[in-house]
Amino acid sequence: TRDLAIAIDGPAAAGKSTVARKVAQKLSYIYIDTGAMYRALTLKAIQTGKDLENGEGLAQLLFQTNIELVQETDGQHVWLDSIDVSKDIRTNKVTSHVSYVAEHPQVRKEMVDRQQKLVEQRRVVMDGRDIGTHVIPDAEVKIFMIASVKERAERRHKENLQQGFRSDLGELREEIRKRDEIDSKRETAPLVKAKDAIELDTTSLSVDEVVECIISIVKNKQ
Ligand code: C5P
Repeated sequence: TRDLAIAIDGPAAAGKSTVARKVAQKLSYIYIDTGAMYRALTLKAIQTGKDLENGEGLAQLLFQTNIELVQETDGQHVWLDSIDVSKDIRTNKVTSHVSYVAEHPQVRKEMVDRQQKLVEQRRVVMDGRDIGTHVIPDAEVKIFMIASVKERAERRHKENLQQGFRSDLGELREEIRKRDEIDSKRETAPLVKAKDAIELDTTSLSVDEVVECIISIVKNKQ
């Protein structure tokens, strides 16, 4: 079998990370959550009071920032300058600001450089918005995962309640819609399906069904 790079893109809360993690586990590949990198920079920018409209300033901040994705027994952890921020990057505050940080071409250039270094050896499953179009344009497998906004908000809502977080379905729907809009309309590497990506509508599929579907696509390429 060949070593592959698997790119999974799609709108917010489509279940990309859950699916990508499971696919990686099954193949003994490394899972890389690129959204976590943008979230970590956003957290640091907020904490240090940076202007989120200043792309050059945010890029300078990123140059002085160490972001590490570490596989631990209970899942992937995100380390920001030697602090575990795995939970802090999922707060509403970070979620509602991250798309403004990710819009800046100067920020994206450095993020994409870092991400490309991680895929040189293949055997990776990477999820994000621009993986199939910009980060790994030559990925052997490209998946574009979609689901209705209603379904995505409901899944997130359930997840939040299960974890004991406060959750408002209407707010979630609005946050997801807004984030998709900014991500899709930005000039640099917007959220768009790569020409050679396979679109998977997961609205009425279970996580395991989506995982199986991707694994069978991978087997055909190996
Ligand atoms: O995947 P996640 O929802 O954690 O991503 C958070 C945000 O990071 C996205 O809404 C988007 O603005 C940005 N992002 C991006 N490009 C990626 C991954 C994430 O612009 N490859």
